[in-house]
Amino acid sequence: LSNEELYRPNFHFTPKSGWMNDPNGMFFYKGLYHLFYQYYPDDTVWGPMHWGHATSKDMITWNEQKIALYPDAKGYIFSGSAVVDRNNTSGLGSLQNPPIVAMYTNHDAQSEKDGNMDYQTQAIAYSLDEGMTWTKYSKNPVIKNPNLKHFRDPKMIWDEIHKQWIVVIAADIETKIYRSSNLIDWEFASAFGKDLGVHGAPWECPDFFPIKVEGTDELKWVLLQSINPGGPNGGSATQYFVGDFDGKTFSVDNSFLNDLKEFQALWIDYGKDNYAGVTWSNIPDKDGRKLFIGWMSNWQYASKVPTKAWRSAMTIPRELKLIKNEGHYRIVSLPVKELDKYISKTLQKDKIVVNENQIIVDNSTVDMSKLDISFTVTDIKANGNYDFVLSNNQNNALHFGINKKENSFYIDRKKVSQHSFSDDFAKKISTAPITTDFSSIQVRLIIDKTSIEIFYDNGTTVMTEIFFPDFPMESLSVVKTNSIFELNNVIINQFK
Ligand code: FRU
Repeated sequence: LSNEELYRPNFHFTPKSGWMNDPNGMFFYKGLYHLFYQYYPDDTVWGPMHWGHATSKDMITWNEQKIALYPDAKGYIFSGSAVVDRNNTSGLGSLQNPPIVAMYTNHDAQSEKDGNMDYQTQAIAYSLDEGMTWTKYSKNPVIKNPNLKHFRDPKMIWDEIHKQWIVVIAADIETKIYRSSNLIDWEFASAFGKDLGVHGAPWECPDFFPIKVEGTDELKWVLLQSINPGGPNGGSATQYFVGDFDGKTFSVDNSFLNDLKEFQALWIDYGKDNYAGVTWSNIPDKDGRKLFIGWMSNWQYASKVPTKAWRSAMTIPRELKLIKNEGHYRIVSLPVKELDKYISKTLQKDKIVVNENQIIVDNSTVDMSKLDISFTVTDIKANGNYDFVLSNNQNNALHFGINKKENSFYIDRKKVSQHSFSDDFAKKISTAPITTDFSSIQVRLIIDKTSIEIFYDNGTTVMTEIFFPDFPMESLSVVKTNSIFELNNVIINQFK
């Protein structure tokens, strides 16, 4: 196998060639999910940014389309969003053929070099052919730079509650909220977050949306806010806040403020490889899901990973839900149900008592699979681990599981051969705090050749990481540590 084939995932989006980072401009329209992304076609490292484009009927099988936006005299095309302007509030289309309107950041690299502060501004472009081709608005920018070095990544939403368009923009170490009736004229509404969550580096790629607490009619607003660096395991990661929005100002819920005192930040994903994720717009009401995708890499090493023709994949698309657990709001995420259509075979195993090293799946299809494991925490010693290992017979071994002493979940990529390209990749074990008392644990794994996405307790704690073995992974085992534990049930879904 060439590296490309060995490393290119099967059911995660990758560009055929070139460099990719953040997902951008995602919207759903007439049966198609659109995904745009930060893209540099001429090299496999970051460069003058374009918006690449792909479409899909199910968010799993993607068709790469022509590049949607090219850099121009106003600058590179940085991250942003897109909405379907159904009532043609912008006047850029018609009621019969509503315009799709995208907002992105123009990053003027020359102006930055010249030492100016205001080199990032917000611009719009529109499409009258369902997102396939785009025209840049002639009077850009639509939002000028308020003299901030970092002022970017506009995420627009239609706010049905207050009947207005809203855009959230990362502005140095806070989020600025603007509102509009027509997507062209924007008025500053408020700023959020200076003293909340993790700071110390620019905030990037916010998202903001109302969502009902699962199983109730209680409505809250959620703000996602990426930061680089500052992630829980180093480098880039995405924190979130839960609160209320009065049409102008977002205020964090009191219970969530207490959570922030305890944890400093709550993260969409504690693994190292889920960044700049945002949600799709224009999902039909009758579907109603909040659908999310992230960039499955980390700025610490994204440009060094050992793929050749292309760099970076997206995470599996996920459905976000808001739950309230003993008074605490939490975002949970799980892979979209569309993935299940690709299952070709399901195996089930009941009751495995682990008192020695034991193979759970020894079939090479494990490197393209979805596994649901439920286990009872019976006899975990105070300093014991429940250690799972994904491996091959070339001694590549990815370890993950529970560390009792630290009260944490972990992923350890040290023993997967290819990691010397960056010290930040595998030197430290990644961890996520276990925040609930547990005696039984459910875990869902999505494995796709070079990535593992681990969803604990129905998506309450998520860890996503990539890895680069010399040879495909062939089996999943549990490793004997000084604990005995019991797997109640394992469901193995194979995708090939
Ligand atoms: C986040 C980011 C954004 C910016 C884009 C540039 O990963 O730094 O803030 O718009 O990437 O490619």
